[in-house]
Amino acid sequence: MSAPRAEIEILADPAALAERVADWMARIVRPKKERVAICLSGGSTPHLLYRTFATRKRIPWRRVHWFWGDERFVPPGDPMSNFHMAETALLSRAPVPASNIHPVRTEGVTPAGSAALYEAELQSFYGAARLEPARPLFDVTLLGLGIDGHTASLFPGSPALEERTRWTAAVEGQTPRRVTLTYPALGSSAHVAFLVAGAEKRRVLRELWQGDSNLPAARLRPEGQLHFFVDAAAAG
Ligand code: 6PG
Repeated sequence: MSAPRAEIEILADPAALAERVADWMARIVRPKKERVAICLSGGSTPHLLYRTFATRKRIPWRRVHWFWGDERFVPPGDPMSNFHMAETALLSRAPVPASNIHPVRTEGVTPAGSAALYEAELQSFYGAARLEPARPLFDVTLLGLGIDGHTASLFPGSPALEERTRWTAAVEGQTPRRVTLTYPALGSSAHVAFLVAGAEKRRVLRELWQGDSNLPAARLRPEGQLHFFVDAAAAG
């Protein structure tokens, strides 16, 4: 499979990256007259973006639904929780209806059970159990990039990398354990944007852009447009 063509933007620093991506997301969301589905990334890079996007004007908050590309299997109030990060940085700072927030369940269930529940929630929202290439599940999917080339919780060597049917998977080999969307679900998006910042990402980003197809992030094939928003430190 040839690597998808990507739109690359290099921003001066993390603050400029957050401002640019907030504007980019706002321009996608504002004209929408129907429901909008945004799949959020975890990790530290998007935190400033989430704070920035919460301040954007003329966002149709009542129509925007929020999902996660992966979750650490910790309580929702745990500082390691991706839900917690997005809740404190964005969702609690804007008029977001509670019914529009679709977290991964991490209490009273096993990771495998949570993955099954999340797949059911995604399919209920989508209205079908089969993804149609012409009708992406998400309008925007935000992703980070680990120094080992992982994205979401698709780590090198993980069985989840081979999943082409299920929309979610439990990831047992990490501490804490994870639940992740799989390539079919992450790729079912009109826009996929990798947000990459920091000098520590320079090597892996170069490997990714040079087409190292062994990296989990390199194996994503979005239905829509692939974007990289990176800061100068990561772009080298
Ligand atoms: C997570 C993320 C993960 C993250 C990368 C980059 O749950 O941690 O989904 O894929 O995006 O590890 O993390 P940083 O932004 O902290 O570098």
